[in-house]
Amino acid sequence: MFVHPSSHTFEAFKYKTLKELKTELNRVMIPLPINASTENLKKRIQSKHFIIPNRISIQPMEGFDAKPNGTPSELTFRRYNRYSKGGAGLIWFEATAISEDCRSNDHQLILSEENVKDFKQLTSLIRAQSDSTLESLDFKGECCLILQLNHSGRYTKKNGKKFPIRAYHNDELDNAISVKREDGVIISDEELKKIEEVWVEKAILAKEAGFDGVDIKACHGYLISELLSAHNRKDSEYGGTNYKNRSKLLLDIMTKLQNNFRKDSDFLITSRLGVYDGNPYPTGFGVKSIENEKFPASVDLGEPIDLINNLYDLNVKLLNISAGNPHYKPYITRPYDVPVKGGKFPKEHPLFSVYRIIYLTSVIKSLVPQDMIIVGSGYSYFRQFAGNLASGVIQNNMVDICGFGRMSFANPGFAKQIFLKNRIEKNKTCITCSKCSQFMREGKSTGCAVRDPEYKNRK
Ligand SMILES: Cc1cc2nc3c(=O)[nH]c(=O)nc-3n(C[C@H](O)[C@H](O)[C@H](O)COP(=O)(O)O)c2cc1C
Repeated sequence: MFVHPSSHTFEAFKYKTLKELKTELNRVMIPLPINASTENLKKRIQSKHFIIPNRISIQPMEGFDAKPNGTPSELTFRRYNRYSKGGAGLIWFEATAISEDCRSNDHQLILSEENVKDFKQLTSLIRAQSDSTLESLDFKGECCLILQLNHSGRYTKKNGKKFPIRAYHNDELDNAISVKREDGVIISDEELKKIEEVWVEKAILAKEAGFDGVDIKACHGYLISELLSAHNRKDSEYGGTNYKNRSKLLLDIMTKLQNNFRKDSDFLITSRLGVYDGNPYPTGFGVKSIENEKFPASVDLGEPIDLINNLYDLNVKLLNISAGNPHYKPYITRPYDVPVKGGKFPKEHPLFSVYRIIYLTSVIKSLVPQDMIIVGSGYSYFRQFAGNLASGVIQNNMVDICGFGRMSFANPGFAKQIFLKNRIEKNKTCITCSKCSQFMREGKSTGCAVRDPEYKNRK
């Protein structure tokens, strides 16, 4: 899988019409479904425990604009206020650190007993928004709100300096973020056991703050995600060849959460799960467990599917699927036309990168229990045609909800545009220029430097 013809060399986005886009997809033999009509995106999802009013989600996007103690600032309120008017039925809040000593930025959000009232104000603000133009769609601002809880692991910073808290050593990943082997620490089994409880405490606070659920983040190379690939972690209950060890932290947290919130609770326990990180064995997850120089990091979704079935048995009925490690091979997570400063152009067609993440998600969707609701990623690259792609993917039952990351920064009203005009406005879309990621790399607060007046003139 994912050996592709040499014609798939890098090509920037240049398609002015759906026809031109389809012609290019045919030329490079990428079977992504595109619909002319986007009507099906308006359809609500009603499960036993939750309602999601339509098929569009805002993906978690760190703004790094919290106050020093992790409390949402005016800028944070501004961002979520914009989303709340945009029409997406699911707003998946950004990575929120479970404690001060595992933040990836000094301005990352942290939910605490001291600021739970501020988060409550934020969720209440979102719920109070009701855009009359959307009421014809039976949408009265009743978004589903999920809070992503994270331990930044090897991407932790302390007082603005990189302090990797690793699951195991990986020199290649160290090089990618310019840290040395002797920087930071390998987290011990005792510490891993201790922090399980912190996730539970934060989930209880999230419920108090008015969220509908919490996401135990397990993607993009952060702590829980890195443990999933910890084949090389020796003499540890959390590492080695046994998948049960590598998934122990995630499953133990989930078990504690389920016990705490009881099986019949409406509070959602979910995860954003990286099903393929793109690292070769023995440091990859979702990859074949053989070292293959010709095709390194070939996909094998066996373990991710076992993991999802284990999560399902723990009553996890909503999952957000992602892939890649944005600090190492960012094009797997977020296909782009322009890399961050000093970054590389991928040796593949960005339409192929979009196909990879959508295809991986569709395989997951087809092999896990049918009542597991799956949120997918990677749509922003399609710009004004992203709604057409989302509609095609949903029609083919490849995913249940389509999540948009960078598009939400650029154009928080994109969902409304799809619902009311059948098309995202061309002059408002994300152009995948990586400037939002660049701000993040530089430790600054972030947003869209092309479309959002707040960030346009920021250096
Ligand atoms: C600036 C920036 C911040 C991000 N923050 C998060 C985050 O907090 N949590 C997360 O799971 N993913 C995060 N992501 C990844 C996005 O959620 C999303 O998966 C990715 O951008 C691909 O989707 P897109 O093509 O719609 O942008 C971030 C991406 C960017 C560019």
